[in-house]
Amino acid sequence: MKVGYFQFNPVFGEVKRNLDYVGERLAGAECDLLVLPELFTTGYQFVSADEARALAEEIPGGPTTSRLIRLAADRRMHLVAGLAERAGDRLYNSAVLVGPKGLIGVYRKTHLFFEETLFFAPGDTGFPVYDIGPARVGLMVCFDWYYPESARTLALKGADVIAHPSNLVLPNCPDSMVTRCLENRVFAVTCNRIGSEERGGKKKLAYIGNSEVVTPKGEIITRAKADQEELAIVEIDPKEARNKKLTPYNDLLAGRRPEFYS
Ligand code: ACM
Repeated sequence: MKVGYFQFNPVFGEVKRNLDYVGERLAGAECDLLVLPELFTTGYQFVSADEARALAEEIPGGPTTSRLIRLAADRRMHLVAGLAERAGDRLYNSAVLVGPKGLIGVYRKTHLFFEETLFFAPGDTGFPVYDIGPARVGLMVCFDWYYPESARTLALKGADVIAHPSNLVLPNCPDSMVTRCLENRVFAVTCNRIGSEERGGKKKLAYIGNSEVVTPKGEIITRAKADQEELAIVEIDPKEARNKKLTPYNDLLAGRRPEFYS
């Protein structure tokens, strides 16, 4: 199975431009599962709830999901991408999974970071896992990494690969995902963005890049630079995530002692 990420620098508020750019850059990509950043069509640093609402879209009716579905059909691939979702009165920081036949699932970010809490409602979907054929794919978004329960829940629900759209600003996630993968024996594809935003007199946010693919043994197969665009596609064997035997005596998930965890 081929998995990858497209790390780039979305331009704030330029939804069509960002969609066109991604379409152009993925035009020759051969991949089973490709991950794009969190909020990849809008940008991240909203300055007001009105602005966030104006840029958010319905799923699946909005332009971003429609365009991703066309791209998935053209390229015969699955895509996971982050976008601002409008659902009635609420906005969510969401991720969609789309395939050649259309929308497969939506995840609404559980653990909101920093000023996201001003604009988005906390997600209400839980952590979903979808079987796309070559692998079972679990979704989480950016700051969810800080809560090991996110990746653990996905592993317990059978995820082989965690797709992790991100807009990271803190430095620790790329190395921490090594532990998330080791402690759950799963693959993870973290797709971050590059560049910075400093809007409406707010504190500058500098995004750290370092998108990566990590294996169930904690190996970083590929990691992008901090400040350069990169389309990376690598081969993985999702079956490696299904063997949870650490030693003949230790099965990672069966060996849990949940009676002592609360
Ligand atoms: C983040 O959750 N965007 C840091």
